[in-house]
Amino acid sequence: MTEPLFPARIVAIELAAEDILSFTLRPEDGALPDRIDPGSHVDVHLPNGMMRSYSLSNGAEHRRGYRLTVARDANSRGGSTYMHDMLRVGQILEISKPRNNFELAEQAAMSVFFAGGIGVTPFIPMITRLNEIGRPWRLHYCTRNRERAALVDEIDQLARDGSGKFVAHHDDTDGLFDLKGTLASLPADSHVYCCGPTGMLDAFRSGSEQAGIASDHVHFEYFSSDVESATEGGFALVLQQSGTEIIVNPGQTILQALVEHGVDIPYSCEEGICGACETRVIDGTPDHRDMVLTDEEKRAGRTMMVCCSGAKSPRLVLDL
Ligand code: FES
Repeated sequence: MTEPLFPARIVAIELAAEDILSFTLRPEDGALPDRIDPGSHVDVHLPNGMMRSYSLSNGAEHRRGYRLTVARDANSRGGSTYMHDMLRVGQILEISKPRNNFELAEQAAMSVFFAGGIGVTPFIPMITRLNEIGRPWRLHYCTRNRERAALVDEIDQLARDGSGKFVAHHDDTDGLFDLKGTLASLPADSHVYCCGPTGMLDAFRSGSEQAGIASDHVHFEYFSSDVESATEGGFALVLQQSGTEIIVNPGQTILQALVEHGVDIPYSCEEGICGACETRVIDGTPDHRDMVLTDEEKRAGRTMMVCCSGAKSPRLVLDL
């Protein structure tokens, strides 16, 4: 099964920057949460059959609806182009409840955010929250040029309202951003966050390690995965709760084997970025291929994303 969905109406579409639109979706039953959980995202099921996950970009105003800010990406698989070209105010889409794999460490002495392009979106509710609780923050926002920088007035206002600093960086006028040098200059107890293209995230992860920032202070979220799913197969799955044993064949993911055997399990992105299919591992060694778990969590092997990860042991016992 995919995750439960509910209908939400598009109540506003606003221009956030060149080729970037903000969509506000209000649940048809009016049930909006009291607060936006900073860093959370929703899955949007488009009328053309595509499913895409988007971070909530809500600032202080969240009673209007869930805000998703989406860049038109010519190299995308078509979701953003569809959103930009086909969606209209008044349309109803099926969306999931918000889910959070990118949580804010609210008590950090200092929070530093690195956004690449549209990766700025989850940071708006995060810095809004830090303002609410009076915590300091800094946002480095890197875009190709000024025209492609979204929600800048809002971020400027957030910096004025709280103890925040907004540092915009445009490649065309400022050259390449020195991500590693900036990380190295931070106090070691800072919490650091990155959301952006894969190359930026890879540089962020290695730069944080070189800077000596503890891994539990390093937070990141990928847009998409460039890691191949494990489809080598050739191992047995034991489902602890039902006692069922399933063989995962070569060419199959664990999720595909489970679905083939009629096992009801939540899933969404099927590429290891949304966290919907996280499953507890009771015995065996997972072959992690996801972008959700931290290196430490992967080493511990207590949970795994069954949509893309496989097994390094001949037998894997799952809490299903
Ligand atoms: S379905 Fe998204 S991580 Fe597995």
